[in-house]
Amino acid sequence: MKITVATEKPFAPAAVGRIKKAAEDAGYEFALLENYTDKQDFINAAKDTDALIIRSDKATREVIEATDRLKIIVRAGAGYDNIDLEAATEKGIVAMNTPGQNSNAVAELAMGMAVLMARGKYNGKSGTELLGKKMGIHAYGNVGKRVATIAKGFGMEIFAYDAFVSKEDIEKDGVKVLDSADVLYKICQYVSLHIPANEDTKQSIDYKLLSKMPEGAVLINTARKEVIHEDEMIKLMNERSDFTYISDIAPDKRTEFEEKFENQVFFTPKKSGAQTVEANLNAAFASATQIINYFENGDTTFQVNK
Ligand code: 3PG
Repeated sequence: MKITVATEKPFAPAAVGRIKKAAEDAGYEFALLENYTDKQDFINAAKDTDALIIRSDKATREVIEATDRLKIIVRAGAGYDNIDLEAATEKGIVAMNTPGQNSNAVAELAMGMAVLMARGKYNGKSGTELLGKKMGIHAYGNVGKRVATIAKGFGMEIFAYDAFVSKEDIEKDGVKVLDSADVLYKICQYVSLHIPANEDTKQSIDYKLLSKMPEGAVLINTARKEVIHEDEMIKLMNERSDFTYISDIAPDKRTEFEEKFENQVFFTPKKSGAQTVEANLNAAFASATQIINYFENGDTTFQVNK
């Protein structure tokens, strides 16, 4: 059996070492492809292995169909919109994620982003504080829950909307549950996005929703760029100079946003939410363990294409 780590954006070296050790301890071969720029290198790596560990690397139908011995793909992270699940299922390949392993890293970044915008990107002018402000958490999964905990430490009032998590589960964290995204955006000056990108959510953060946000609105996106309706956000920002947008995933229209709304936007140079040593170690170890458990015991606990 062979486990290959194929990551355009590398893990911390210690995390790679952890996967290598786990693979070798289990008697498996280990291979590494990092920082690749040619898609063909990724295809070749996926072709020549039994198990593949990836990050946001795109396991498209083309990549999956080119494989002949691949049995399992683990997305070391939460969102698996980068894997063509249908193609994987057709090929009998198990796809998994590692939920929760990088949530604290992403949540810390989200709160750091809230501070950056509250302080006007550290431009030396008088900014504002988070204390007493309303934080709206749009989707209360592992990251949203962690944002709630940290935001409480800042003295913010926390609200959440999640169509799938029970009211009781959210309320026991001292978070106020709202019945719709509309109400969340209407009452919260800060909104932190944690929805996945899928057919239902793509471009769902639109003018209608965003225009409900109160004066001094700050939208924080550590989720996916695809959920934003970029043209409608541009329309809103043309109308409202008080609206700010900070994202860890730069929009397709990055240049237009930055040229027109310099003081109202900030985009990280490269997606950094999960890019900490701790998150890499957690996600790497979980990936290796899940692969070994699958091969040795048929454990499909974290399978996402059942
Ligand atoms: C996730 O879905 O876990 C995050 O978006 C992390 O993505 P990355 O591994 O590409 O940094």
